[in-house]
Amino acid sequence: THVVTANCQACRFTDCVTVCPVACFHGDDERLYIDPDVCVDCSACIPACPVGAIKEEFDLSDDEEQWIRINAARAPDLPIIRAKQSPLPTAEARRSELGLN
Ligand code: F3S
Repeated sequence: THVVTANCQACRFTDCVTVCPVACFHGDDERLYIDPDVCVDCSACIPACPVGAIKEEFDLSDDEEQWIRINAARAPDLPIIRAKQSPLPTAEARRSELGLN
């Protein structure tokens, strides 16, 4: 499955949802999560994210493996996000900090 990792925090660009064919993204006010029971592993969202937040499960580092559990636990309780929304006010600063702009 695919998972949304740490870089989504403070960004929440939501470009990922616009390319997802199955609406597997759910969100709270801070970030998005992928429902692993809905994701079809198409990988379309990986290049869509401006901060590289989305990874395939097998590409995760040891530090990132926690995101598998967090995405699976959080996604089902949150609303599905299907349309692009405004990024968080901190998004561009965070993107610069990550050296990704
Ligand atoms: Fe987050 Fe990237 Fe999507 S910042 S909301 S995973 S486009």
